[in-house]
Amino acid sequence: MCGIIGVTGNGPVVPRLIDSLKRLEYRGYDSAGIAVQDETGIRRRRAKGKIRNLEAVLLEDPIKGHVGIGHTRWATHGAPTQANAHPHKAGRVCLVHNGIIENFAELKAELEAEGRVFESQTDTEVVAHLLDHNLSEGMAPLDAFKATLDRLTGAYALAVLIEGEHELILGARRGSPLVVGWGEGEMYLGSDALAVGPFTQHISYLEEGDYVAMTRTDARIFNAKGEPADRAVVKVAASSALVEKGEYRHFMEKEIHEQPDSVQHTLSEYLDLVTAKAKPAVVDFAAIERIQIIACGTAFYAGQIGKYAFEKYAGLPCDVEIASEFRYRDPALSQGTLAVAVSQSGETADTLAGLSWCKAQGLKTAAVVNVHTSSMAREAEILWPTHAGPEIGVASTKAFTAQVAALLSLAIAAGVARGKIDEAREAELVKALFEAPRLISEALRMDAPIRNLVQDLAKARDVLFLGRGPMYPLAMEGALKLKEISYIHAEGYAAGELKHGPIALIDEYTPTIALAPMDDLFEKTSSNLQEVAARGGPVIMIAPESAPDPHGAGIRRVHAPDAHPIAAPLVYAVPMQLVSYYTAVQKGTDVDQPRNLAKSVTVE
Ligand code: F6R
Repeated sequence: MCGIIGVTGNGPVVPRLIDSLKRLEYRGYDSAGIAVQDETGIRRRRAKGKIRNLEAVLLEDPIKGHVGIGHTRWATHGAPTQANAHPHKAGRVCLVHNGIIENFAELKAELEAEGRVFESQTDTEVVAHLLDHNLSEGMAPLDAFKATLDRLTGAYALAVLIEGEHELILGARRGSPLVVGWGEGEMYLGSDALAVGPFTQHISYLEEGDYVAMTRTDARIFNAKGEPADRAVVKVAASSALVEKGEYRHFMEKEIHEQPDSVQHTLSEYLDLVTAKAKPAVVDFAAIERIQIIACGTAFYAGQIGKYAFEKYAGLPCDVEIASEFRYRDPALSQGTLAVAVSQSGETADTLAGLSWCKAQGLKTAAVVNVHTSSMAREAEILWPTHAGPEIGVASTKAFTAQVAALLSLAIAAGVARGKIDEAREAELVKALFEAPRLISEALRMDAPIRNLVQDLAKARDVLFLGRGPMYPLAMEGALKLKEISYIHAEGYAAGELKHGPIALIDEYTPTIALAPMDDLFEKTSSNLQEVAARGGPVIMIAPESAPDPHGAGIRRVHAPDAHPIAAPLVYAVPMQLVSYYTAVQKGTDVDQPRNLAKSVTVE
């Protein structure tokens, strides 16, 4: 969840540490800090809040050095204060950490008993003290580091400076990602390829339990047993252009507008437009008895849309569960189950743990991920990529529709493999999905009417989202989006469930937004909206222009493109995203980095 960078440079590193931290800000932005070292020692600067605050501190009180580490934080233990900001220092050691040290209280008590004084409330500081303790016992840096790692329980990615070792950065990875970047006469350590993207495209991914000693010209990598490990150097395309806002005001706005492309790229991975056929899937769907999808947040809602499709088009039973529940409840799964993790980052701790658990049970595993080099991509037997490109806005948009596009395509492949879809139906469904990019472009033109609507929405305290069929998970996703970036309380309900309780919430101040594509459930959704309108609740109905008008005062219509039922979730996702986006803009919130959130949740 936090972002880490380390540079053993052949010139001053502070500007590059800052550049990299800005790219990592999506991983957390409660506080930030850097530390640099040269022959005269280690100096650090830290600030509460975003990187710009750290820049202001550095302007007032600059530091220089050729070797340095940096960190942007998403608080786990300890409030987001300057004292709790990384790097943490103890004696000769200065380090940054991403993850959670679960046994920190026990280690802290032990270290305090020997007279060590702690400056912060973080779990991280114990690592600095423990390493300094080992160094003070006379151990060599690498041995002291290994002995420290052996005492830690939990998840970590670490980057460490040791006073006096002015050409060295130590790094380690367990449960949190870390990469080594190979440059020309300098080396880098980072949370991901994006962090080191401006400096090098040559990356080695550290594996679970690996640790590394990095100088300006080399990186010696060791596995968890302390044996030298050879990790391939791969070339990645982390082009800097991909992470610029360009003409848009926010990354979220840009990413919403990138969806025609990202959906098309993703569909093309699984479907062939020319032959109007699903490409052969790497798994034999005919031999699969059940699918178990595991995911969190937005990815969970994408998984639920996938469930509707796998059952409808392939007759393949599919369960979807929130990963943080799944991983701890000893689920009963038969061997014919295919476990599918769905994740943008591929690093979400709970989803990764659920996936690993399924693998350990001997189940076949697959990962639908947007970061193709992520931990989940490497953990699963089958990688099902989405092609959304880097998603920087914390609230997921294009990664969500890419997940939906991948799952819908796979459902067609499954339907064909299981004999549930004949050639004509396959061609119909494939063509319908390939219409989605164009319909998404049309839906993007809904921004003018939606901007009008949000004048009222921005004043609401509560908002309800309704839908039936795959529009139900989309309604929940719409509510999540609104909560995340506009801080307005919102809930998504199955339209038919409203009268079983939530309808009590309806009054003239509680707007209801309904997703009502023209499908065989339209009439039923329309009746539910009349029930809301009859109780004085303002209703916004998102439906095609051709859809009949529901009777009822107070029902406002916003016209969406007409879409085939299989493509409707992709198309209707756009007005949901635009509603949240413009409401947040109207309220003046921090759209790309809403409070309390982080892009990649690598703690459970
Ligand atoms: C919401 C959002 C989160 C993520 C969730 C899972 O906009 O982005 O709910 O969907 O944290 O993240 P990934 O997909 O990276 O596993």
